[in-house]
Amino acid sequence: MDNEFYNEQTDLSKIKIKLVTDYFIAWLNIISHYWNGKIFYIDLFCGPGCYEDGNISTPLTILENTLKNEKLLDKVKNKLVLWFNDKNKDFVEKLYKNIERKFENIQRELKNLNSPFQIYITNYEMPSKEIEDVIKQIDGPMFVFLDPWGYSGISKSLVDMIVDKKMSECIFFFNYNRIQAAIFNNKVVETVSEIFGEENLNNLRKRLQNSNIYSHDKEMIILDEFVKYFSNNYTRYVVPFCFKKENNQTSHYIVFVTKHPLGQKIMKSIMAQESNNNITGGYFTYIPSSPQLSFLTYDGTW
Ligand SMILES: C[S@@+](CC[C@H](N)C(=O)[O-])C[C@H]1O[C@@H](n2cnc3c(N)ncnc32)[C@H](O)[C@@H]1O
Repeated sequence: MDNEFYNEQTDLSKIKIKLVTDYFIAWLNIISHYWNGKIFYIDLFCGPGCYEDGNISTPLTILENTLKNEKLLDKVKNKLVLWFNDKNKDFVEKLYKNIERKFENIQRELKNLNSPFQIYITNYEMPSKEIEDVIKQIDGPMFVFLDPWGYSGISKSLVDMIVDKKMSECIFFFNYNRIQAAIFNNKVVETVSEIFGEENLNNLRKRLQNSNIYSHDKEMIILDEFVKYFSNNYTRYVVPFCFKKENNQTSHYIVFVTKHPLGQKIMKSIMAQESNNNITGGYFTYIPSSPQLSFLTYDGTW
């Protein structure tokens, strides 16, 4: 599955890209108004920037959407720093080439903008002390995207390190499917503790053991403990967006964390636009249309 990820863009990826890039542009507009120093977009699991089918993915969509917005570009000129990282050397090289190609075209269009912003591309495997040291040193607002295939590389301490910074926010992939399967697996207890906290993990295990729980209730309990932990006991905002599979089972969540009520409000309105069903425990949800059902749907013609 992971090897096929970049073959073609799925509906789920399209929505993920939209959530990240729409929010980033809204955030950048606000932040650039209040902050005169450097502003950072950081994607620590960036991939090559393009799918094999030619569609562009998050890094290039971020770049493209920023560059086509001339007013915004003017506001962030010499301020914006884009930092992309991936552990896969081939992906990093491909991204470098894809950005170069894109930049070349754009430079031709915007002749008088020599260097609208700085771009860094690195090749570290997360978790990485080197990367954490750089994040700790950054003095300025950052919007960070964490999108691994599994769940290793994401930890509460990393999210805290980001969101504790001024005007900084984080959006990350919560691999519900794999994590729920790992909750009782003692071999991965350290990694799972990063997601729920050691104490909360014990509590979560007890709650899940207590009764005959249906899978929906199980999911809500897991999410409840997860949101409580990542919101620091509800002292900041955690906004999950649920992605279902065609069979209506949850695949994963994209989770946004912010200290600011306005950030929460803007992200919720973006999520509401991308949601086609908001009944998963009150969280915005996207369910791909089932081929069978859409075939059976009466469209008014026989
Ligand atoms: C789901 S893909 C990211 C997709 C990307 N956000 C996009 O929109 O195209 C996951 C990426 O994370 C990278 N990755 C996986 N584990 C990693 C780790 N521990 N450290 C850094 N990169 C990792 C993979 O090489 C892969 O490119």
